[in-house]
Amino acid sequence: MRHPQHQAGTPARGGCFLSTSGNQRVLSGMRPTGQLHLGHYHGVLKNWLRLQNEYECFFFVADWHALTTEYESTGIIAETIWDMIIDWLAVGINPGAAKLFIQSRIPEHAELHLLLSMSTPLSWLERVPSYKDQQEKLKNRDLTTYGFLGYPLLQTADIIIYKAGYVPVGEDQVAHVELAREIARRFNYLYGREPGFEEKAELAAGKMGKKNNRLYHELRRSYQEQGDAQALEKARALLEEQQNISIGDRERLFGYLEGGGKVIFPEPQALLTPASKMPGLDGQKMSKSYNNTIGLRENPNIVEEKLKTMPTDPARIRRSDPGDPDKCPVWSLHQVYSGDDVKKWVIQGCRSAGIGCLDCKRPLIDAVLKEQGPIRQRAREYQEDMETVRSIIKDGCEAARDVARETLEEVRQAMGLEYR
Ligand code: TRP
Ligand code: SF4
Repeated sequence: MRHPQHQAGTPARGGCFLSTSGNQRVLSGMRPTGQLHLGHYHGVLKNWLRLQNEYECFFFVADWHALTTEYESTGIIAETIWDMIIDWLAVGINPGAAKLFIQSRIPEHAELHLLLSMSTPLSWLERVPSYKDQQEKLKNRDLTTYGFLGYPLLQTADIIIYKAGYVPVGEDQVAHVELAREIARRFNYLYGREPGFEEKAELAAGKMGKKNNRLYHELRRSYQEQGDAQALEKARALLEEQQNISIGDRERLFGYLEGGGKVIFPEPQALLTPASKMPGLDGQKMSKSYNNTIGLRENPNIVEEKLKTMPTDPARIRRSDPGDPDKCPVWSLHQVYSGDDVKKWVIQGCRSAGIGCLDCKRPLIDAVLKEQGPIRQRAREYQEDMETVRSIIKDGCEAARDVARETLEEVRQAMGLEYR
């Protein structure tokens, strides 16, 4: 399997990557707080489309996360949740390849969040940059709440409950994945010392077969007695290759290798989503808060109207004035949608006043409508067959919940909470 670039992973203590059990599970979530637009498509969703073919993916609707900011008017969540799922399906997110689910249908996320909250220092949450940034930015809402402070901890629970190895997120979310790594490490440290750990690790090693068992012990000895980092790497690779051992056993073997306890939560890595190059109607980044969006499946007449009336080079007042594409938001959109021929035609025509701005926009309008056509069509089909959509989500929730339940059992056991 391919390894993605570890763009946002920081080396853990000791300068090496600790506790990554090499698992190839990807998890990401999206908050249902409004209609998706072309910025989401060219940024997040195209990235998900690529990942779903390379990894075991879990994609979910983060409705509880939406609640942290929308608690005063929760209607937006119900209004947008199913449209968002339809949008995912319409762009080609494949429920056969990725598990699609809704956060609040997996109550184990809330249980894990609560359990983690007991040992999470307040200062860890207060220093997450988005905490103060968002409070500043969303001044019209009161975000001095318990839930909002806990936002990144709930996100941590979302991630580690599935033992996800990779988390595709934008730049603004990298600090949250960093927090998840710290929380995972702390949990393993506090609760990873299960009774009979060594015997269990030895048993697990036996399950790899005679040859691998011997190799594992040799490498472990070289690492622990001589600090041989290469041996550590080889042993990790050996564990990653094993097909026949359970996740729990693999975690024991990772922990045993390094001389610690069981690795209950592997540390996730952020997979930085390349910044969306999708410009909005005014040339700034496309974003709901700038009011410059084109909806993913907005009515074609409105799309055409929005593009026809979008601003151009302000110096081009009359048709006969030459313009400069570099000063024009329409040109930014051509970068996304047009081939070299059209781009050349724009540059020449604009600078010489050979074409008018409406002429210039025509191929762009056509390209956007062409891109949206099949998305709109598939969305319509799903809208007319909500039963299918609901059953896709039902299946995804069941699959996710199986994993989450298993993790919680392990967590309760590790924390000594099995008395109930
Ligand atoms: N906080 C994320 C956002 O605003 C959404 C989210 C919630 C998420 N839980 C997650 C993303 C877990 C990745 C993994 O975009
Ligand atoms: Fe912008 Fe095109 Fe008009 Fe030039 S011709 S100002 S690039 S819209």
